[in-house]
Amino acid sequence: MEKREQLYEGKAKKVYATDDPEKLIVAYKDDATAFNGKKKGTIAGKGIINNRMSNRLMGRLEKAGIPTHLVEELSERETLVKRVKIVPLEVIVRNISAGSFCKRYGFPEGVSFDEPTVEYSYKNDELNDPLICLPHILAMKLATREEMDAIRDYALRIDAILRDFWKGCGVTLVDFKLEFGRLRDGTIVLADEISPDTCRLWDAATGKKLDKDRFRQDLGGVEEAYGEIMARLEAADA
Ligand code: TMP
Ligand code: ASP
Repeated sequence: MEKREQLYEGKAKKVYATDDPEKLIVAYKDDATAFNGKKKGTIAGKGIINNRMSNRLMGRLEKAGIPTHLVEELSERETLVKRVKIVPLEVIVRNISAGSFCKRYGFPEGVSFDEPTVEYSYKNDELNDPLICLPHILAMKLATREEMDAIRDYALRIDAILRDFWKGCGVTLVDFKLEFGRLRDGTIVLADEISPDTCRLWDAATGKKLDKDRFRQDLGGVEEAYGEIMARLEAADA
């Protein structure tokens, strides 16, 4: 597999072409941003952890019948993935109240829901990724009704699988964000990453935050938290 030109640089990853038109290389950076890039920083070693964690979790999801973009991990920071066209939505699943849910509704943090919620944001940095409802997704033809049925179904199955996995690590999966893409033939697959950047993960015993909220909220011990959550995953995977 030959790495070719850089196609794109995002906030946390770079994407490269390869000699195979249907495959790309993603390279994970240590850069961290929050609040649509208004807060900037570095989390030393984050790229290595996010690359490995995302690949482990996506490998598990694949085994459970969820199609993903994962092909193979190439190095500490680089992974070969299937080329997709990203559906411009952030798909957010919540099990416990936190983050923008609490802010929007003036609702306390840490309340467990009877059923997980699924919501969507329109991926558009100029508009600050606004919350979007299904009728508006369909009206703008961001995705078809059939695609949205599949995406919602996958999101809930992923939640059940990951919640169960993290529980075995002594970790509570509070909420997370997913992105889906279309392969050349239109098949919907899970893309982007699943990592402490994109999930809220709390120690089940103490409630300690082991995710990017430590960076967003200036809680300190950011690198330690990423290291701790990765160690929990590795212990469970061993
Ligand atoms: P929120 O409570 O800020 O809406 O975040 C919900 C989940 O989505 C949380 O686990 C963090 C994740 N997330 C991202 O991965 N990227 C983002 O840009 C935002 C705003 C949230
Ligand atoms: N990554 C996003 C940004 O920089 C937001 C976040 O994860 O909080 O805007």
